[in-house]
Amino acid sequence: MYMVRICSIGAASQDVFMSGKDIKSHLDPVEHVDVESFKLGAKLEAEKIDFATGGGATNAAVTFARQGLDSSFIGKLGRDISAHGVIVELDNENVNTQNVVYDETNGTQYSTILLTDSGERTILIYRGVANSHKPADYENLDFTQYDWLYISSFGGAMDALDCIFQIASRLGKKIAFNPGGAELAQMDKLKPLLEDVEILIVNKDEAQLIVEGGNIEELARHLLHFVPLAIVSDGPNGVTACDGKTVVRAGMYEDVKVVDRTGAGDAFGSGFLSQWVIGRSLKDSIVFASANSTSVVTKIGAKAGILSKGVVLHAMPLSEKPF
Ligand SMILES: Nc1ncnc2c1ncn2[C@@H]1O[C@H](COP(=O)(O)OP(=O)(O)OP(=O)(O)O)[C@@H](O)[C@H]1O
Ligand SMILES: [Mg+2]
Repeated sequence: MYMVRICSIGAASQDVFMSGKDIKSHLDPVEHVDVESFKLGAKLEAEKIDFATGGGATNAAVTFARQGLDSSFIGKLGRDISAHGVIVELDNENVNTQNVVYDETNGTQYSTILLTDSGERTILIYRGVANSHKPADYENLDFTQYDWLYISSFGGAMDALDCIFQIASRLGKKIAFNPGGAELAQMDKLKPLLEDVEILIVNKDEAQLIVEGGNIEELARHLLHFVPLAIVSDGPNGVTACDGKTVVRAGMYEDVKVVDRTGAGDAFGSGFLSQWVIGRSLKDSIVFASANSTSVVTKIGAKAGILSKGVVLHAMPLSEKPF
């Protein structure tokens, strides 16, 4: 059987999760927001530590691989121990890393995640290579060997993204795009890229930066002015997908205890694409995306909960109607 070949492009990182009773949130009486704050000079005990790799693109690549697709990752790594951790994990997951770009001066992205027992977290992030994408890093890449590109957070490097989109469009490769905050902050440069996008996956707040709309269905419909297939998610409140023929509106897959929401969006977008590329319907692809992301939030780290091929899904609240 033909194996669809997907290349996931974007961020990779080494993540360290720390939790324990000293790591907790409280309501700031002045700002009226939940904060995790630590007294200067304090030494806080973390009873639990988990090492995991992250970065939207490596998380997505693992979904594709676990779903039995031919999966590759392209992004930047430094020459350091974190890069080694990322490569070892991707090798173990059967993700091809032969086209990874190495940066000789900046370090691999690294995050320390301070997890509270409610599943919320504060992240200390060193971006390193994730802020150093240049067109020259990608201009000689050959995408002929892939059928689809899944492009996610790119540190706002719009020139490098433009270069990647141009190569892909020259070769007629299909693009699924899950832009990050740094790309969405540059709407004048983002909108022209959407011309080459087949599938756009954004959450509600992100969709509202691109189009107007009072609810996620309106937002998804309006996004079809830019792309043939749009998906707008809204955390536990559900998701709407439109492909110009059908509108699928789905609720919560399962009311789970959220342990760590890192990677929810990645598992959702990649989960959708993993099914769509093998010819599953809009509805079935949304069910899998929802199941994949719901599973991810029940585990620490962005990859541990990613579903493997053959997992049995259950029904979920969902409606389907003509566009
Ligand atoms: N609390 C939750 N309970 C169950 N499922 C959840 C929860 N939060 C998120 N999900 C699942 O993850 C999907 C994507 O979540 P969300 O809409 O928050 O994406 P996002 O804002 O892009 O996430 P990220 O911050 O990871 O990029 C949802 O559609 C849902 O299936
Ligand atoms: Mg997201």
